[in-house]
Amino acid sequence: MFRIESKPFQDIQSDVVVVNIFREENEVPEDLVGLDKVTNGFLKRAVGEGVFSAGLFEVTSSYRPNGLITARLLLVCSGSRQDFSFEIACQVAATAARFVSKTNAREIAFLMRGDLPPERRAQACVEGALLGIFETGKYKTMDRSKPALSSIAIIASNPSEEGKLRQGASRGQLQAESTNYARHLVNEPSNILTPRRLAEEAAALAKELDMDIDVLGPDRMKEIGLNAILGVARGSDEPPQLFVLRYNGGNQKTPTVALVGKGLTFDAGGVSLKEPEGMHYMKYDMAGGAAVLGAMKIIGKLKPKINVLGIVAATENMPGGKSQKPGDVVTAFNRKTIEIISTDAEGRLVLADAIAYARHLGATHLVDIATLTGSAAIALGDITTAVMTNNESWAAELLKAGKDAGEKMWPLPTFHEYRELIESGIADMRNMANRKADHINVVPAGAIVGAMFLREFAEDTPWVHLDIAGTAWNSRTLRYMATGPTGVGVRTLATLVLSMGASANSKP
Ligand code: BES
Ligand code: MN
Ligand code: ZN
Repeated sequence: MFRIESKPFQDIQSDVVVVNIFREENEVPEDLVGLDKVTNGFLKRAVGEGVFSAGLFEVTSSYRPNGLITARLLLVCSGSRQDFSFEIACQVAATAARFVSKTNAREIAFLMRGDLPPERRAQACVEGALLGIFETGKYKTMDRSKPALSSIAIIASNPSEEGKLRQGASRGQLQAESTNYARHLVNEPSNILTPRRLAEEAAALAKELDMDIDVLGPDRMKEIGLNAILGVARGSDEPPQLFVLRYNGGNQKTPTVALVGKGLTFDAGGVSLKEPEGMHYMKYDMAGGAAVLGAMKIIGKLKPKINVLGIVAATENMPGGKSQKPGDVVTAFNRKTIEIISTDAEGRLVLADAIAYARHLGATHLVDIATLTGSAAIALGDITTAVMTNNESWAAELLKAGKDAGEKMWPLPTFHEYRELIESGIADMRNMANRKADHINVVPAGAIVGAMFLREFAEDTPWVHLDIAGTAWNSRTLRYMATGPTGVGVRTLATLVLSMGASANSKP
């Protein structure tokens, strides 16, 4: 899939060669003087006349440039040099790859400039390009035989960095393929990807990665008291499935991180039925579960020295004669009682059981990931994932992992005052706050209320909650990904676990 090239620029054989240019470069930069010479001043003309005055991700291409073997030379603006980062480099690579995938070109070579270590530069090229070209047209029957990329080359700035480039490129390939695997699962419609099919997918993944998997169906759930998830599943003909993948890379003393994903293969809202407008999007309500599986794929391949539980609570949320109803009370796995106010606040119900069960299985650290609330999307849009916690230092580790992975995450508070909003007159808590504050006509602090609810089940175990309702789906081609599922969380979760594995073993 990828190769490393140390040849002089003019000898590189590829359908396209991509070079990034910084916004403030309005003369030919020193490292590109050679390229400018062989192309008879192409760069000087382009850059000198201010082609990138408008900025970030703008593209200029030259077909059959003089002096090069390559058919196309593509310049991509990578913004200002001081804002350059791993994430921008991924986006530059994705922009280029998406541009190229609309032509007949099949090979792409990157000269990624800027201030990043070689392994990160190469990672960004491969990761960004493979994320960029992912498309969701699986169920279109017309001919879609447009060529995919057959090779990605990374151009080394000197031969001594080849090893690092290769290492980074292979990490990038694994991260992109695992993210695209999650995107593929999210893209599957609910008539195909039922809870049972999702469990089968997870079993196939566990087999590939040589991990144990335990799948709990409704009978087992009844036996052990996972009543919150059972309540959500009652309106559906599809049996709920809670599954646990186990990766044991550590020993008794190393931490056990549980990654817990919301796996609603369809959320109609239940008796508190959603409005029809946009309801079809609710097939993506299992994006948290898919992110957990994608992360497990990376973890299983890179084998950090730490223990990981990948847990997904999968069900449908449907209206029906047997459905759970507003006003019902259920007793969750940790024996806390919940008054159901809205059957549409079901994500927190399935996660309540899954989080408590993760603690029961010995998790020392928890991260849950869920398309939990429309409020998260209102607060942060489709750009940034909301992060909530009961433990600031654990959240700081997660935020750092997000930054390293190139996924945007931002904290929301969980001050104890918010807990009042889920006081119930009849049970330990209610699953939804009052619809209105006295003076504002919306659910106040909806994303935080969801977190306050989940916190009751994490109890004193360090826990971070990621609300990806806004970020799991692109409703337009945003930045560098096609419309549709983004696979958000896969790279952050894996990065978190890998960095914990590294630090757990550097301690004496
Ligand atoms: N799955 C939805 C949240 C959601 C909404 C995800 C839009 C993606 C896009 C969740 O189960 C839900 O219905 N949440 C309610 C909670 C409310 C009833 C307290 C919401 O956000 O409106
Ligand atoms: Mn819902
Ligand atoms: Zn939902």
